[in-house]
Amino acid sequence: MTIQYKKVSDSETTITELMIPSYANFGGKVHGGILLSLMDKVAYVAASKHCGGYCVTVAVEGVAFLSPIEVGELVSLKASVNYVGNTTMIVGIRVEALNPKTGVVNHTNSCYFTMAAKNELGALEQVPGLILEKNEQVLRFLEGMQIKKFSKEKRELLKADNFGENFKELLVHEKCKLLNIS
Ligand SMILES: CC(C)(COP(=O)(O)OP(=O)(O)OC[C@H]1O[C@@H](n2cnc3c(N)ncnc32)[C@H](O)[C@@H]1OP(=O)(O)O)[C@@H](O)C(=O)NCCC(=O)NCCS
Repeated sequence: MTIQYKKVSDSETTITELMIPSYANFGGKVHGGILLSLMDKVAYVAASKHCGGYCVTVAVEGVAFLSPIEVGELVSLKASVNYVGNTTMIVGIRVEALNPKTGVVNHTNSCYFTMAAKNELGALEQVPGLILEKNEQVLRFLEGMQIKKFSKEKRELLKADNFGENFKELLVHEKCKLLNIS
């Protein structure tokens, strides 16, 4: 079977959304969940453009809300498929908030969504390969390889039995108390 290849530019997607008052939390800033939902949406669009079909969100890496977004700002989410495995794609997303009154643009965060391609029966499907045309695309592909590797290592490390029988020693300097734990 010949592998189909697509360009990074084929999946490039930008969604811009006005931050309306109903998106705000009690502190008057935009809810993190609103942004997560927008990120999921743009990741889906970019991934489905690449695989040409249905896909699902598998994992999210690197989401950090480093500066608040205000009501009235225009949030743009720029996404593209950075890396492809066999059945999954890593979509890189850059989030920027524009204050339309001042013209100031704030890069609020960048993150990576792993999306899996599925067929009508819900089974995983092979995704097209990626054509890399610029140095930055090569770097992002390499970064995607690392994200996939580290994410797998992290899952292994977090398995409960990795902490061993002496897990209490690990907690000595932590801000917790063991109650009724033998
Ligand atoms: C994630 C999922 C596809 C893994 O299925 P699986 O049969 O256990 O997967 P495998 O171990 O064979 O791996 C399949 C691919 O998923 C990737 N994968 C599996 N678990 C992963 C994880 N926790 N994080 C990132 N990637 C993961 C593997 O690296 C592999 O990628 P590749 O094909 O590009 O090399 C499956 O659990 C699933 O469908 N989950 C539900 C996703 C969903 O419905 N999301 C919507 C949110 S409600």
